[in-house]
Amino acid sequence: MADKHLDTALVNAGRSKKFTQGSVNSVIQRASSLVFETVAAKKHATHNRANGELFYGRRGTLTHFSLQEAMCELEGGAGCALFPCGAAAVANTILAFVEQGDHILVTNTAYEPTQDFCSKILGKLGVTTSWFDPLIGEEIAALVQPNTKVVFLESPGSITMEVHDVPAIVAAVRRVAPDAIIMIDNTWAAGILFKALEFGIDISIQAGTKYLIGHSDAMVGTAVSNERCWAQLRENAYLMGQMLDADTAYMTSRGLRTLGVRLRQHHESSLKVAEWLAQQPQVERVNHPALPGSKGHEFWKRDFTGSSGLFSFVLKKHLTQDELATYLDNFTLFSMAYSWGGFESLILANQPEELQEIRPDGKIDFSGTLIRVHIGLENVDDLIADLSAGFSRIV
Ligand SMILES: Cc1ncc(COP(=O)(O)O)c(C=O)c1O
Repeated sequence: MADKHLDTALVNAGRSKKFTQGSVNSVIQRASSLVFETVAAKKHATHNRANGELFYGRRGTLTHFSLQEAMCELEGGAGCALFPCGAAAVANTILAFVEQGDHILVTNTAYEPTQDFCSKILGKLGVTTSWFDPLIGEEIAALVQPNTKVVFLESPGSITMEVHDVPAIVAAVRRVAPDAIIMIDNTWAAGILFKALEFGIDISIQAGTKYLIGHSDAMVGTAVSNERCWAQLRENAYLMGQMLDADTAYMTSRGLRTLGVRLRQHHESSLKVAEWLAQQPQVERVNHPALPGSKGHEFWKRDFTGSSGLFSFVLKKHLTQDELATYLDNFTLFSMAYSWGGFESLILANQPEELQEIRPDGKIDFSGTLIRVHIGLENVDDLIADLSAGFSRIV
């Protein structure tokens, strides 16, 4: 399938006959116990239990194998570990490569629970974390210590949307610490708008809860690994009891079939909204990777093939609690909810002082209220009208 276009790969990945058994989609094989007909079959399954042979539910069933094969094809990996949510994928993937006394480097703009996992859980295990500026580029080399085992990226950064110069970071880390494992939270790009492994990253992690599922009704985490990290990631995830139920694995595969068209619409609509927002007098700045002037836009333009629907903008005004409530409580199309990546539009606010608390070593360089939006699949003019009405509530 390597010579096919992405849309074709999304439709077909993981749908070989052994997984579909006469239907269009992969079968849903719900199982803890998988039955061996003979002693020889049991021996064969045990020997090949890590290599896609039916063995025991926690190693996966045909439904999981289909999804894993699809993810490897789409992201160019040697293997894909499945987790019950994105946070489990992040935590267990890091955990697979560190031990007491190690050090890891993590972007300042990582998703807050990722930061908390590093400081609270890894800290307890004797693994130290240092934080780096998302725009650090090759200067990251100076932060690498002799015991640095993992470098963790997230691009664009959580909430403030900075895009890393990944080639510069990868080259610098490889120069000073060739054995360090470089991993990325690649959720915003749905693993396909930025082909992390092609940029020399070892492991591409996603909260598949967002775009892979795409309908805000299930949670999943994926970690697609290159050859050098796969066995270690696979065995650690297995020993940590990390697996997904077959129904959610099926829903994830189903999400892949429409991912291409959904992302194109998210790209088109979110950029149109971002461009409109940039013209509004109430807006100080717009943080959308595809918008010129957004931090790291040049890297997005060079390294990504598209945009998804999540971005943020900063108001000139620091809204009071009352103003914030009047603004946020009255949207008709934007709902307030954590998460993103579904078909629907969402909105949340962060005050700069709140953001400062989750930027371990960085300085927030604005004073107005930040609004994060996820632009869904509704008509974009209707969404702009809803946002426009919002501005009239905070004049
Ligand atoms: C960038 C990013 N990574 C990871 C996660 C965690 O995913 P989950 O909610 O599936 O645990 C989230 C959730 O919002 C996220 O935004």
